[in-house]
Amino acid sequence: MFFGPFAESVIARAVKRKIVEINTVDLRDFTHDKHRSVDDKPYGGGPGMLMTPEPIFEAVESLRTAESCVVLPGPGGEVFTQKTAMEFSKLKHLIFLCGHYEGIDERVREGLEAREISIGDYVLTNGNLAAMVMVDAVVRLMPGVLGSEESGVSESFSEGLLEYPQYTRPEVFRGMKVPDVLLSGNHGQIEKWRKEQALRKTKKVRPDLIRPAKK
Ligand code: ADE
Repeated sequence: MFFGPFAESVIARAVKRKIVEINTVDLRDFTHDKHRSVDDKPYGGGPGMLMTPEPIFEAVESLRTAESCVVLPGPGGEVFTQKTAMEFSKLKHLIFLCGHYEGIDERVREGLEAREISIGDYVLTNGNLAAMVMVDAVVRLMPGVLGSEESGVSESFSEGLLEYPQYTRPEVFRGMKVPDVLLSGNHGQIEKWRKEQALRKTKKVRPDLIRPAKK
């Protein structure tokens, strides 16, 4: 499941340039029974199976260094934002523990000091997609991954606002015209217009970014 997204575009380039190394580990390689089982029935009863702690601990312990940060993707964690991505992009080693939602023995969180992180208020089938989302957001911030042309500096969120609207040719498309100011060549005016537009859009669709909710 990971090979497709990691073999494309920006991430594939970062790997090729050896800016980042991405490895996947199969928890079943850390089991010791014939069936290579990684889950078992929950104590106290209830539906479904839980992932057992042993293979997870063994896998993490085989990979972990003093510089590793263990991340447990899960809807019950702190919310992943651009700020988290920036923080992670400065770390030496991230380990993403992808388990089935609501199916991990609690001692994994506790014993491995895993940081539980959610990518949003919805429930995914497991942590795989969430880990891929985080890897994507983190890798593109690592120095040397994006060229200066595509640099993330003026992207949505990096300045706390959503991005201003952008246009390319043709000047008129199906009756919709590129705003005159962008054709004016007046860079001061263009800059001012872009700031206004970014603010207007943010106020409309994400007012929480401008006035963080009071607790
Ligand atoms: N696993 C299941 N749902 C998730 C979410 N919203 N974020 C991160 N990991 C998850």
